[in-house]
Formats: sequence, C-alpha cells, structure tokens
Amino acid sequence: MKAHKRIIVALDVDDWVAAITLVDALKGEVGMFKVGKQLFTAEGPDLVSEIVEKGEKVFLDLKYHDIPATVAKASIEAVKLGVSMFNTHASADMKKAMGDATEAVAKYCWEKNIPQPFILGVTLLTSADEKDMEEEIPEGMSLEQLVFMRARRAHECGLDGVVASAQEASVLRKFLGRGFMIITPGVRSKGASVDDQKRVATPGEAVRDGATYVVIGRQITEADDPVEAARAIAREIETATN
Ligand code: C5P
Repeated sequence: MKAHKRIIVALDVDDWVAAITLVDALKGEVGMFKVGKQLFTAEGPDLVSEIVEKGEKVFLDLKYHDIPATVAKASIEAVKLGVSMFNTHASADMKKAMGDATEAVAKYCWEKNIPQPFILGVTLLTSADEKDMEEEIPEGMSLEQLVFMRARRAHECGLDGVVASAQEASVLRKFLGRGFMIITPGVRSKGASVDDQKRVATPGEAVRDGATYVVIGRQITEADDPVEAARAIAREIETATN
C-alpha cells in the first residue's frame, strides 16, 4: 500500500462545511476519512454519503455496542451508506453481536454483489487505564492481556481487524497474522503537539510496529496547511517502511 493511503484523517469537527472543506482539500492525499460520533450526530448519514459520492473512503467510527440484532441491522445500514470500514466494541458481551454482524454483512454484500466493508473491533479505549478497568479485569490479568484477548475474540468472530495503540500493535501483529488489520490512533510526528493523547507513537513507528493504517486528527486538521501536514506524514511513513 502506498504510504499516503495508510493515513486516516479523523474529521473531528461539528459541521458539514468544516468537514467537507477538509475532505476537498485532502482529496487524493490520504487513504480515508473517519466520521465519528460528534460529526455523525451533528450532520448524520447524508454527510457520509456526500464524502462517498466524492469518491473518498469513509471509516464510520460509531463503535457499535448493543444486542446482536441491533448491531447486525446497524451494520447493514453502514454497508448501505457505502463506508469502507466501521467498528464495534470487542468486549465479551459482544461475542454473538460480532459474529452476527459479520454474517449479516457477508450475506447482504453477496446478495447485492457489492464489496464488503472491513469490520473492526475496538479492544479498549486508550483513555482507560488499569485503575478504570480494575473492577472488570480478572485478578492477575494486565491491560495488555485484556487487549490481546479482545483482539483474538474479534478475530475468531470473523472481524477484519482491530483498533489498537502502537504499543500493542507489534504483539497483535505477531500473534494474529499478517492479514489482520491494525488501525492505530494516538499518532504524532516528532515535535508536533500531542494534545490530550497520552501514549503517542510517530507515524513511522506505528507502521513499523505493524499498524496497517494510522488515524491522525488534529496534527492535520488544525495545521495551517493540512495538505502539507498530510504529505509530511506520508513521507515519514514512506521512510519508515523502506
Ligand atoms: O486529533 P487526534 O489525532 O488525537 O485524533 C485521534 C482520533 O482517534 C480521534 O478521533 C479519537 O477519537 C480517535 N481515537 C483515539 N483513541 C482510540 C480510539 C479512537 O484517539 N483508542
């Protein structure tokens, strides 16, 4: 994959004009645009369709976490919107929902003869630390082990990959194989503002450690020149992978 295609830009803005201005500026410069809960709640599915109609790929980051029937039906709606990627949580209570969603999506896409989007599992929110998870993690299990267990569950349920930090990428890549996708947020170039991210890796490190895609928001979206910011990140990834 070409270096610039590995960049997913997080469109963490709250209105149509701001989002579409970024998409138009960055068209062809990056691999995908991530629409998350903020923008989706503000502007809805029409905005997703607009980006898709412009020929750009969308990662719909709504992190589904619900009963199996609802997750499966929501997944079909994501397919209808033409997104290239969407996600669900990968906690133990989601096991049946993940399986049902992958099955429903495969059946729908086969019947309609359309390409299947990638379905990713969210292992653990990077905002969670050991203390937050204390009540839920079995005695003696580390956060890393929990992430690995959830990633393996996602893999077994037929998902295409996971969202995970760069710190976890290399072990996941080693044990879950080359075909499993790893999408890594919390990525910053050296010298760039880390904002509120705690454990950051550079784009080069993340890809070297096994990330298939890096998710980058503010370093690009708040740059004076977003196109140049994206190109600089693509150059870093290119250097790291050569
Ligand atoms: O601006 P920044 O590059 O920090 O944005 C990172 C994006 O990745 C945000 O949309 C954030 O919600 C998302 N994300 C994250 N950590 C996760 C999952 C998603 O930062 N574990």
